[in-house]
Amino acid sequence: MMFRVSLLVAALSAFALSTTAFVPTSKNAIATRSSSDYLSNAMNQVRSSSTSSTSALKMAAGVDLKGKVAFIAGVGDSSGYGWAIAKALADAGCTIIVGTWPPVLKIFQSGLKKGSFDEDAILSDGSKMVIEKVYPLDAVFDTPDDIPDEIKNNKRYAGLEGYSIAEVAEAVKKDYGKIDFLVHSLANGPEVTKPLLETTRKGYLAASSASAYSFVSLVQKFGPIMNEGGSALSLTYIASEKVIPGYGGGMSSAKAQLESDTRTLAFEAGRQYGIRVNTISAGPLKSRAASAIGKEPGKKTFIEYAVDYSKANAPLAQDLYSDDVGASGLFLCSPMSRTVTGVTLYVDNGLHAMGMALDSAAMARE
Ligand SMILES: NC(=O)c1ccc[n+]([C@@H]2O[C@H](COP(=O)([O-])OP(=O)(O)OC[C@H]3O[C@@H](n4cnc5c(N)ncnc54)[C@H](O)[C@@H]3O)[C@@H](O)[C@H]2O)c1
Repeated sequence: MMFRVSLLVAALSAFALSTTAFVPTSKNAIATRSSSDYLSNAMNQVRSSSTSSTSALKMAAGVDLKGKVAFIAGVGDSSGYGWAIAKALADAGCTIIVGTWPPVLKIFQSGLKKGSFDEDAILSDGSKMVIEKVYPLDAVFDTPDDIPDEIKNNKRYAGLEGYSIAEVAEAVKKDYGKIDFLVHSLANGPEVTKPLLETTRKGYLAASSASAYSFVSLVQKFGPIMNEGGSALSLTYIASEKVIPGYGGGMSSAKAQLESDTRTLAFEAGRQYGIRVNTISAGPLKSRAASAIGKEPGKKTFIEYAVDYSKANAPLAQDLYSDDVGASGLFLCSPMSRTVTGVTLYVDNGLHAMGMALDSAAMARE
């Protein structure tokens, strides 16, 4: 029988929310605490609905990226990881330019103009991040020839041109000559709410195209305009290697591709352009994109379950802010990681390391 997402999410919910005690046999001090202790600790951590915190930014002060240019693909508001990485790089003095998906371009530009993101743009010295230029970018198109008429004639793309990856790279070259950092912070899976068992070929390939090949294509097209010593970075998720019910539609497959491609691109682009290629496996964040997964009226979304599950079960029972990932992104771009390439860096409060869920009902003692 096919699983329905609501069932999967309900199962995840029961799994995540159970608070029955776990009494392990080991005698060491940490192990003799019950899982309910861990849980209550987790729940006592500072709660915040905000996705960002500037404390991570302050810690990163001291890295100097003045004179460097970063192109961040996949920024459409201030709630996600792309914005946070842009902010951390800007805090280090880097010039920021972004690529924004045409369907959200107008609303993003008008938000920028109206100052809707100002509060989330504050840097550690109190100034505001400046996004020097916003390029329309649809990362499923490599060249203008790939764009079908239904997209060209779509009203969300009306009046726009030059949004394929090759054209954006050309425009950036014209405007800035060379860049130093390329960040891929985008993903899209039209069938993400379907289990893999129900995913169509079309949906699966669309997830791969938007979420994995887009990075290969960006590195292909931007590699030639990147300075030696530069760095390319993407964002992945643990569902690539462990089963995360609810993260469907071939998105888990796309993230596995992204991680594998990171290694191969690290070799190829390292030899060809002298740049580094890494990916961050980020913990759950309630971004706009993530909030759209499994949205059913009156119910918690997939990402809300994932955030609660992480707090209840990760080694570090603390909130994860987008700025935490921003700071790690800054590290992977800065000379501090000069010899780091081809890695998947977990920035997830350590959740990836766990093999058992502390709050599982199966751990309950009679
Ligand atoms: N939020 C999480 O919990 C989480 C966890 C791990 C990894 N990630 C990854 O982080 C990255 C950023 O996502 P986020 O959650 O911060 O949300 P986000 O909404 O900030 O970013 C996703 C962006 O992708 C853009 N996009 C979608 N299709 C596109 C296309 N064809 N061309 C260009 N842009 C396109 C959207 O407009 C949006 O701006 C993604 O790769 C995501 O899978 C997120």
